[in-house]
Amino acid sequence: MTIHRSAATLAFCGLIGLASPSFAEQHADHHEGARVTKAEAILIPTKDSKVEGRITFTQDGERVKVHAVITGLTPGLHGFHVHEYGVWSEDGMAAGGHFNPAGHPHADVTVKERHVGDLGNITADESGKATLDLDDAILSLHGPHSILGRGVVVHEKADDLKSQPSGDAGGRLAVGTIGVSKP
Ligand code: CU
Ligand code: ZN
Repeated sequence: MTIHRSAATLAFCGLIGLASPSFAEQHADHHEGARVTKAEAILIPTKDSKVEGRITFTQDGERVKVHAVITGLTPGLHGFHVHEYGVWSEDGMAAGGHFNPAGHPHADVTVKERHVGDLGNITADESGKATLDLDDAILSLHGPHSILGRGVVVHEKADDLKSQPSGDAGGRLAVGTIGVSKP
């Protein structure tokens, strides 16, 4: 009976697709309107860290603009990634590894076949403040590359952009959850 019913459902869907091409268009339009266009993460320092910050992600067509302002760092480079889980913990480890839905190796933000979460490094000035502006075509706020609900992590050390699986960037200084924001 179950098989019978699935076959009938498939046939029905196929019929709609053939008979009414505008159905798909209407559905796409509706979906477009519901799409998330802005997301935001507030960094919360891990144990013994003073690193705080805010990162905004704005969808612009197929690209995402990333704007980050982070304070409380030691001067220099710090690995900056989107990790698989958007969960804070004292050591930052609850965020898991780099968000990597396509199974690519760890790489620089400029490499096409990289972890979706590979955003390279941020650079802190003498006062410990880093700002970053990126425009990226791999990150997304929808579809299989969607970073919604995942975690932003700032690291103790520089990401060397080549060591596997995460650039040898050391401990985790802050974690923030990427939440849907008002457009
Ligand atoms: Cu990381
Ligand atoms: Zn990576």
